[in-house]
Amino acid sequence: MDKPKVVLGVSGGIAAYKACELLRRLTESGHEVRVVPTEAALHFVGAATWSALSGNPVSTEVWEDVHEVPHVRLGQRADLVVVAPATTDLLAKAAHGLADDLLTNTLLTARCPVVFAPAMHTEMWEHPATQENVATLRRRGALVIEPSVGRLTGADTGKGRFPDPDEIFAYCRQVLARGARGEKAADLAGRRLVISAGGTREPLDPVRFLGNRSSGKQGYALARTAAARGAEVTLIAANTTLPSPAGVDLVSVGTTAELRAAVLRAAEDADAVVMAAAVADFRPAQYATGKIKKKEDQEPQPLALVRNPDILAEISATRPRPGQLIVGFAAETDEVLAHGRDKLRRKGCDLLVVNEVGETKTFGAEESEAVVLGADGSETPVPYGPKETLADTVWDLVLARLP
Ligand code: CTP
Repeated sequence: MDKPKVVLGVSGGIAAYKACELLRRLTESGHEVRVVPTEAALHFVGAATWSALSGNPVSTEVWEDVHEVPHVRLGQRADLVVVAPATTDLLAKAAHGLADDLLTNTLLTARCPVVFAPAMHTEMWEHPATQENVATLRRRGALVIEPSVGRLTGADTGKGRFPDPDEIFAYCRQVLARGARGEKAADLAGRRLVISAGGTREPLDPVRFLGNRSSGKQGYALARTAAARGAEVTLIAANTTLPSPAGVDLVSVGTTAELRAAVLRAAEDADAVVMAAAVADFRPAQYATGKIKKKEDQEPQPLALVRNPDILAEISATRPRPGQLIVGFAAETDEVLAHGRDKLRRKGCDLLVVNEVGETKTFGAEESEAVVLGADGSETPVPYGPKETLADTVWDLVLARLP
């Protein structure tokens, strides 16, 4: 089989050095990569580096190897074009269809999915000129990853940071996989999706908590796949240690009360809410502000617990936005389908993903199998496989049910 052909466009920002890592990930995983830097990008990383890492010639303009008509061929032959980093200038040129170098020509001739990973200072990202250019590109089907929030070039921090190269790589792989299945890459464009992930922790005192073993991987896979399909994603993560998925707004929470507040806020303008988080059903009745000490002359006292609100049942009953779709998860150890159907009814959600769990199954694993039950009586089995496959199936089912 031919290797997937990727054009890596690099525009002139300091994050160009991080694109070397993205390039390495792409080539090492069997992609044929042609790097097309802009003239300005070469101030940050030279052509020799791009050429050595990609194993291919590198040029910035259309006047080299003219007999091969590179300004047309590269774009036409590509399975994916990813521009990383995309500067505000490059986004403006792409939005207006300018073609004054090899990269901008390639963008105009490409008919494959195009991903932009912007990196710039917060003021430039937020400027209406940039925002309108981004909106134009998205309307035409391009996938513009939301920049991360964090440390920028100098001492300042804010939105505009280049996402983790590993996460951009994961994003590109998802886009390529969908392209290979002959589906539209951005079928969730314009949809706002909220996903909860991880497991809540209920503090007993400043150093101890009641918690669970949820890794957050399934919720993160849902966020990653939704972003790669063009959705605007808010990921509400409870106590996870995973890298932030590219193009996703991340809200970190700890307790069930914090998770509830964040979900209710984000759900107000969401098309769908997926509750993949493992929520603690109970919390300690008392929180000790100082560390609880063991007493030598006394046996430990039983722990008094109180019930936590059921977030899934609450949003299913109230539907913060009319017509929105609510998806729950259920982990069951036995009589999986019967318990799942019962839970779907009790919680009042539209879809329930039922996993069988046990000593070795699902918690922390990379792969899982599940059945997705629909309130309409549907039953969709998802065979054992990567969590991304289950995530894609969930989004297919959500999309089919959205107005
Ligand atoms: N959930 C929630 N709020 C809670 C507990 C659970 O929103 N307080 C959500 C989870 O995010 C998940 C679904 O409900 O989507 C199923 O959770 P589970 O704990 O299995 O449901 P329970 O009703 O607690 O069922 P069980 O009787 O098995 O404990």
